[in-house]
Amino acid sequence: MSDGPKTVAEGGHAIESVLTETRTFPPPAAFAAASLVGSEAAYAAMVEKAEGDHEGFWAEQAGQLEWAAKWTRTLEWTAPDAKWFVGGRLNATASCLDRHAASWRKNKAALLFEGEPGDTRVLTYGQLHREVCKAANALGALGVRAGDFVAIYLPMIPEAVVAMLACARIGAPHTIVFGGFSAEALSDRIKDSRAKLVITADGGWRRGAIVPLKDNVDKALVGTGSADGGSPANAGVPGRAGGSPANAGVPGRDGGSPANAGVPGVERVLVVKRTGNAVAWGPKDVWWHDVVGTASARHVAPSFDSEHPLFSLYTSGTTGKPKGILHTTGGYLTGAAYTSKYVFDLRDDDVFWCTADIGWVTGHSYVVYGPLANGATVLMYEGAPDAPTKSRFWEIIERWGVTVFYTAPTAIRAFMRWGDEHPAAHDLSSLRLLGSVGEPINPEAWMWYRDKIGGARCPIVDTWWQTETGAIMIAPLPGATTTKPGSATRALPGIAADVVKKDGTPCGPNEGGFLVIKRPWPSMLRTIFGDHERFAKTYFGEIEGVYFAGDGARKDADGYFWIMGRVDDVINVAGHRLSTMEVESALASHPKVAEAAVVGRPDDLKGQAIVAFVTPRAGVTADDALATELRAHVTTQIGALARPEEVRFADALPKTRSGKIMRRLLREVASGSTARGDTTTLEDQGVLETLAQAYASDD
Ligand code: WTA
Repeated sequence: MSDGPKTVAEGGHAIESVLTETRTFPPPAAFAAASLVGSEAAYAAMVEKAEGDHEGFWAEQAGQLEWAAKWTRTLEWTAPDAKWFVGGRLNATASCLDRHAASWRKNKAALLFEGEPGDTRVLTYGQLHREVCKAANALGALGVRAGDFVAIYLPMIPEAVVAMLACARIGAPHTIVFGGFSAEALSDRIKDSRAKLVITADGGWRRGAIVPLKDNVDKALVGTGSADGGSPANAGVPGRAGGSPANAGVPGRDGGSPANAGVPGVERVLVVKRTGNAVAWGPKDVWWHDVVGTASARHVAPSFDSEHPLFSLYTSGTTGKPKGILHTTGGYLTGAAYTSKYVFDLRDDDVFWCTADIGWVTGHSYVVYGPLANGATVLMYEGAPDAPTKSRFWEIIERWGVTVFYTAPTAIRAFMRWGDEHPAAHDLSSLRLLGSVGEPINPEAWMWYRDKIGGARCPIVDTWWQTETGAIMIAPLPGATTTKPGSATRALPGIAADVVKKDGTPCGPNEGGFLVIKRPWPSMLRTIFGDHERFAKTYFGEIEGVYFAGDGARKDADGYFWIMGRVDDVINVAGHRLSTMEVESALASHPKVAEAAVVGRPDDLKGQAIVAFVTPRAGVTADDALATELRAHVTTQIGALARPEEVRFADALPKTRSGKIMRRLLREVASGSTARGDTTTLEDQGVLETLAQAYASDD
């Protein structure tokens, strides 16, 4: 093995060269000349304006939306509670649809859809508007009212966008559950959100197979999502809802059991026919084509208060219980629209492809709300990037003339592994801008992305943000910012991001610290659904008076941010956020497990991989068969995305005297087998460890 930095192909790790990265890439002149913010001076002017008049700046951005009544106060802020555009009234879909359908964009493509089997559909703004009006009328007819939550568990098909926007149109907050989550995980989320209606499909296509979405909904509603039923072993395990087996069933399906009194049940399940496979049918089930297909396309959008909830979305925190992050209408839409416009430099002739599933926040903000508020054309693909071949993405870009492509580092690293011949065989010259999101992008992947996908002509926007922030916070403005491979560069105008010590004082150049946002911003989360105290403590309680993101970072001498990863017990596997506790709870719910501890270890492809340390119950044989069984159990409990890469058995887990599992030690053990190599990596790891300790010290 050589001493120098290793490439991904050689098995080197992602962050190795970040500390020594010195390459810089100014925006190409031609790109800058045609862009919205085309120079460093224009960027500086925007920042100055935002800093000089924070509220005025955001009011100007909000003014780009369609309001039924203007706000009377831009911001009411008593940390941690923000209200933006107070007194203003709007309907999110008026900005995303009605105003375009009433303009020259009526016959412009809003959605370009390609299914995994190769079927395609195009919906213009006029058509999408009509579909959403029909769905809004259908939801109303099914008894959904403003304020009712609707759970959406759909594949990446146009109906997913229609369903979201129909909910928004009638003021019923949606809570989307990623189709890769298991019935058990779906059940938890439906219960926590108190959804009244579930929208799903008979199935979705994934690598030629059918994902049995409707079956999972059926299981989720009767609470038999796991093979071993609502196991009593779950009792007392943090994160499993309640200890009572009576909670296993979501009320509704089995007739509103009195044990669930006070929790409004799921009344209806609206089912889109996608795959045509046979599905079980019950009295609550209704076909989408029967009710939406026949509904009127006339629907006048009512207006809602700016702070009316638009959606909640579950994400992982440091405990076993996922958090329902709540976003409201005016502020969220302002953030999504503003960032879509400036970070992606959106133009009317763009074909914008964000590869995220709508089950994640990236899909909310950059498949649906942000680009549609800007009247953009959005591409949507249902399936896997390697189905039927590893060229699928490049075929799609060539076929539809994609101009802006936004994906995750884990995908980029997979493309690198699959070989340059796949992109090389396709005409990717339509691309003008590339984006990255979800985890730190290692410079090697950044350079490959730039050269092999962007033909060395497209700027790259590495965008840092979170489910909680609603929209991009730190990213280049592509016509203005000189980029550095591996850095998300600087905070967007209007965003007061910084790196600080535990006591809140700013860190010096290149000093590792906590990433915080010091002033409120419109698209910030408003609460954790049902747990405002946890919201206040998690985000505003760690570092006095400012929003703490849970990430470690440093700023270099140019003020560029380098995100170092989470300092808490959240792990990022292939761009998906998971809490170690969540996976531990799933493992501990297995009858053969006495105790489990889960850590992340660096992984060349996924960023982090899950390693589980398991102490089996007395008399249980710890062997490969058990490891396989446990991995399958986690898949049933949460979904394949949480399946441990490795299960290691131990007689006991290392603990502090107060009984806390010593994760640091386990992380070292788990990483021991990977070539971590040079000292820069170790330094980086060391800072993270120090931060993690500082973060945990108050517990
Ligand atoms: C990580 C996804 C480095 C980070 C939008 C954050 C990133 C978490 C980046 C949020 C990036 C996201 N560089 N790290 N460009 N983008 N992250 O809520 O750790 O699924 O806290 O939102 O992903 O993940 P979430």
